[in-house]
Amino acid sequence: MFALLLSLLVLPLVAKCYNLNVLPQPRSWTLSSAPPFPLFAPVTIVVDAAYQNYSDADGMTLIPPSLHAFASLFAEDLASAYNSQPTLKAGTSPPDYGIFLTITHNTTTLLDGTSTGEGYRVSSSASLITIEGSGARGAWWATRTLLQAAALNGGWFPAGEIVDGPDYGIRGHMLDAARHWYSAEYLTEFCHYLSFFKLNEFHVHLSDNVYPAATEEWRSYYARFRLWSNNPAFSGLAHQNESYDQATFAAFQSSCAARGVTVIPEIEAPGHALPLSQWQDSMGKQVYIDTDPTLLNLSIPGVTEMVENIWTEFLPWFETQEVCIGADEYPSDLADEYITFVNDLNTLIKGRGKHIRAWGTDEPSNTTSIDKDVIIQHWALFATDPYALIQKGYPVINSQDWVFYEVLKYSDSYPPTTNLTRFFDFGDPPVPGLTWNTSLFNWTDIPYNPSPTTPLLRGAIAPVWNDNGPRASTDLEAFYETRVLISVAGALSWGANSLKMEAYDSVREYLENIAPGQNLNRFVASKGPTVLSYDFSRSGLTDLSGNGYNAHVLGPVNLTSSGLVILSGGSLITPLGSLGLNHTYALALSLSSPSTILKITGPDTLLTLQNGQPLVMRASNGAEYPLRNLTTNATTPRHNCKARESGRLESRWAGSESR
Ligand SMILES: *[C@@H]1O[C@H](CO)[C@@H](O)[C@H](O)[C@H]1NC(C)=O
Ligand SMILES: *[C@@H]1O[C@H](CO)[C@@H](O)[C@H](O)[C@H]1NC(C)=O
Ligand SMILES: *[C@@H]1O[C@H](CO)[C@@H](O)[C@H](O)[C@H]1NC(C)=O
Ligand SMILES: *[C@@H]1O[C@H](CO)[C@@H](O)[C@H](O)[C@H]1NC(C)=O
Ligand SMILES: *[C@@H]1O[C@H](CO)[C@@H](O)[C@H](O)[C@H]1NC(C)=O
Ligand SMILES: *[C@@H]1O[C@H](CO)[C@@H](O)[C@H](O)[C@H]1NC(C)=O
Ligand SMILES: *[C@@H]1O[C@H](CO)[C@@H](O)[C@H](O)[C@H]1NC(C)=O
Ligand SMILES: *[C@@H]1O[C@H](CO)[C@@H](O)[C@H](O)[C@H]1NC(C)=O
Ligand SMILES: *[C@@H]1O[C@H](CO)[C@@H](O)[C@H](O)[C@H]1NC(C)=O
Ligand SMILES: *[C@@H]1O[C@H](CO)[C@@H](O)[C@H](O)[C@H]1NC(C)=O
Ligand SMILES: *[C@@H]1O[C@H](CO)[C@@H](O)[C@H](O)[C@H]1NC(C)=O
Ligand SMILES: *[C@@H]1O[C@H](CO)[C@@H](O)[C@H](O)[C@H]1NC(C)=O
Repeated sequence: MFALLLSLLVLPLVAKCYNLNVLPQPRSWTLSSAPPFPLFAPVTIVVDAAYQNYSDADGMTLIPPSLHAFASLFAEDLASAYNSQPTLKAGTSPPDYGIFLTITHNTTTLLDGTSTGEGYRVSSSASLITIEGSGARGAWWATRTLLQAAALNGGWFPAGEIVDGPDYGIRGHMLDAARHWYSAEYLTEFCHYLSFFKLNEFHVHLSDNVYPAATEEWRSYYARFRLWSNNPAFSGLAHQNESYDQATFAAFQSSCAARGVTVIPEIEAPGHALPLSQWQDSMGKQVYIDTDPTLLNLSIPGVTEMVENIWTEFLPWFETQEVCIGADEYPSDLADEYITFVNDLNTLIKGRGKHIRAWGTDEPSNTTSIDKDVIIQHWALFATDPYALIQKGYPVINSQDWVFYEVLKYSDSYPPTTNLTRFFDFGDPPVPGLTWNTSLFNWTDIPYNPSPTTPLLRGAIAPVWNDNGPRASTDLEAFYETRVLISVAGALSWGANSLKMEAYDSVREYLENIAPGQNLNRFVASKGPTVLSYDFSRSGLTDLSGNGYNAHVLGPVNLTSSGLVILSGGSLITPLGSLGLNHTYALALSLSSPSTILKITGPDTLLTLQNGQPLVMRASNGAEYPLRNLTTNATTPRHNCKARESGRLESRWAGSESR
């Protein structure tokens, strides 16, 4: 505690030492010589009464939060960061001491010159921070800047002026939630993580399949459709224990929207459509192409209508202006059928008030073309030429594989790691200092890219895939393998604003760990390197780590002088859930008979130990993984348990060590 106070007192004296490397960087940030504002202290937040109920009409979401709702969530984030109790109220003028949130419309434009509600200005002194959003979202993004900057400066927000806004309207991440099952709670945490880096879309890929290597066995291949309808017309389409019902999906969307993130659903057809082929096949109807059941045969009467009926059923669920119909990797010799299909869906979905996005696909028809209002989500130069598409008048989203694509765990083409050189020295060979921006697609011919200011360039979305299916990775690996992709995509798709690799690298891990509203890193606060430690024979259920994580027991359990005896049906319960990477877990125990089974369980894993059996880990995705490198030793009569963490153990927020 003393060390903390000292650092808080010393910091404001050395203004030149402020760490301003927030992600993304603002367009402009001018410091003044005034002392900084203490965000860690109990703070009064006043929302301009004239705008408290204002919400943006220019965003992607159909459920835009009000300025007051955003301010209230900001107050919660401050409270959890600093264990403080901010006061939130509406008022007509700024407080004498505190934070004032208001709206000044039309102050910010995107690069193409159009107005956006996502920009903001911040003016700050030692006693007052005024946030002026160009819309409610702009004010929200400003609060992210405040939280990050304070976190990097011991809880102090430097005095000065920030003027900021995004270069493009669409900034997102896509996760393949079809070939791997993720719970809605997990996806919600992911959404919250995106928001900290000012990403505003979470594109969720909701139907797909692993690719059948042996075509004749396709009926048993993993293929999933993730939306559950009670309508009997869709019975058999989804698996109930691995899908989202309407209420669950609604809660997911609103929790994302509350943090400025719109969920963009994708239902994939006519390629990657094995879930639909299997579903219809189970009812005796063929909808697929004989040589490849992942492809719908659009010439079979009723097949397009089947897909249209699915959209008609689920469209009312989606709280977004735009949805993604998939439509990638379909044979180019069926170009006419493909184009007719996409345009039919476009007509249907527009008729219901929404616009469609389709993955860029090479379909060289001689007679017809995709409607010009279909947004093309470009992903590979061999599939489409994004510059040419823009010249023809198509709106384009940049999901270029070479910079963004990752396949979790393993792939020959797209490794499960982010190559930061491609973001900060874009080009092949790398061009030192050429930072990637949304207008850059072609990495070998850099002049051959669209103008950054064309209104047809809608933004960028960074996709992550599960080509290897449900067991290849655990839920948490999606975070461990993509956390960097998300923070860098967030930083650069907003606008690079001179961010350099060194600056990004110096803060990214810290900021990734403290994103509010989520704990994907499964951080557990600890005073020292040992997070939890019990010595049952000497100190019973008391945690010896100093963290106070004392255990309790349930059922037939006997605490004896030689240790803890757990009888059938008994359990030892710690107050912790999961502990993220990296840690060492040490447990000494004796299993009294070969049939004894010990289960160690938490929200993310279930470890099962049995004499002579391989140690099995069951992950929260339902998959079981036998673990390697296990030596069982069933004879040692010791009963104690110790968990140690060898990784970094900083408090989640600078300035909150007293927790
Ligand atoms: C405006 O918002 C406040 C705070 O959320 C709420 O209490 C009030 O009822 C709202 N007023 C109207 C007119 O909706
Ligand atoms: C902002 O500007 C747009 C045109 O760019 C206009 O339609 C809108 O009414 C303006 N909003 C406000 C609140 O002034
Ligand atoms: C698609 O279906 C049509 C109509 O049944 C059929 O004539 C055609 O051979 C099928 N094409 C393929 C590639 O399976
Ligand atoms: C378009 O015309 C070319 C040249 O006649 C032909 O080779 C190609 O198959 C045609 N494409 C389609 C989709 O019909
Ligand atoms: C990252 O990308 C650059 C540019 O293509 C390449 O030179 C480098 O080998 C890549 N690094 C890794 C680790 O793949
Ligand atoms: C994006 O990079 C290209 C190539 O260096 C450059 O011409 C363009 O101005 C950059 N756009 C932005 C918004 O910085
Ligand atoms: C873009 O990049 C590719 C390499 O992926 C290159 O082969 C191609 O010629 C470039 N496209 C254009 C139109 O210059
Ligand atoms: C607990 O241990 C004591 C002493 O060894 C023994 O008398 C008692 O029966 C044990 N209780 C249970 C539930 O095994
Ligand atoms: C865990 O440790 C390994 C080996 O040192 C390292 O490669 C990996 O990046 C670490 N993971 C995390 C999340 O820190
Ligand atoms: C859902 O049920 C299937 C079939 O019983 C099972 O294999 C799978 O593990 C279950 N999924 C989860 C997440 O429990
Ligand atoms: C345990 O893991 C190490 C490192 O991966 C490996 O070298 C060793 O062969 C493994 N031992 C067993 C028994 O599998
Ligand atoms: C079992 O544990 C004891 C005590 O640590 C040790 O002496 C013995 O070698 C171990 N046996 C095996 C098979 O690992």
